[in-house]
Amino acid sequence: HQPMRHLTSLRTGGEIACVAFPDTPEKAAALVARLEEHGLRWSPLGYGTNLLVADGPLDRVAISLRQLKAPVVFEGCQVKAPAGYSLPRLVNQCADRGLSGIEGLAPIPGSVGGAVKMNAGSHGYEIADVIVSVDVARDGHVVTLPRETLDFAYRHSPFTERDLILGTTLQLRPGNPEASRAEIAEYRRHRAATQPVRDNSAGCIFKNPGPGLATGRIIDELGMKGETIGGATISPLHANFIVTNGSARAADVFALIERIRSRVREARGIELDMEVEVWE
Ligand code: EPU
Repeated sequence: HQPMRHLTSLRTGGEIACVAFPDTPEKAAALVARLEEHGLRWSPLGYGTNLLVADGPLDRVAISLRQLKAPVVFEGCQVKAPAGYSLPRLVNQCADRGLSGIEGLAPIPGSVGGAVKMNAGSHGYEIADVIVSVDVARDGHVVTLPRETLDFAYRHSPFTERDLILGTTLQLRPGNPEASRAEIAEYRRHRAATQPVRDNSAGCIFKNPGPGLATGRIIDELGMKGETIGGATISPLHANFIVTNGSARAADVFALIERIRSRVREARGIELDMEVEVWE
């Protein structure tokens, strides 16, 4: 009975049946197969930084890969990383080794597996641009899927809640550690200045609706910054973030989401799509 509010950066969400921490990819794949065999609902859990969990209780098992013992392996300009590894840490390590191509992902506070699942991106970078292959659990085994077989798009991957991503191999290019570190520092500075990094949030709540259109700007132009329902508030710093206080319920966040959606629909005729993953 794990309260999801302790396992998500938004700090909301009710109790979930159980969280499992397999320590090898093989055990993780075997666990998925057994859960499926018994008809038990399960979901992959990354760092919970892009996740909105309902007030619950939720009848499902979360599988966290934070305790995977698999190492990060560097081979020429390729790097293989386990799903539970920290994305910012991986970006730093690549930069230190003079490997370039993922600097823009440095400010994203999630796991490698979570980044693959949502095709995380920022500053013009998307993780899909450098993916060579993705390891997933299939029928009790670890299977490697090459990039050509995977359809990625803006904040979208072909993986579903029934796919456990175990790791990925990325193709980088030779770079300069100093230049990469400077670029990363600039992205981190920009994030800290433009996003509510010290508040509880799940990052941007909605996708941007199209090229040249920023949801944050649209909500801001409607004058909605600071609007609050219960313990959930539209961030005064970036309007595509909902921030919560210590006592917010997921229901407050869902209500604020609906309010934003209907105002944007009425005012702009735009249907906003969720960017965060939702567990209900
Ligand atoms: N803007 C406003 N008011 C606001 C927020 C933004 O006018 O309250 C304006 C900004 O001034 C800027 C434009 O909207 O002109 C775009 O804003 P920003 O540069 O902050 O980028 P974004 O499109 O809102 C995207 C990603 C972020 C990512 C940043 C930086 C999406 C939904 N969001 O935000 O990703 O960090 O670019 O590259 O694609 C996330 O995925 O959770 C996330 C935060």
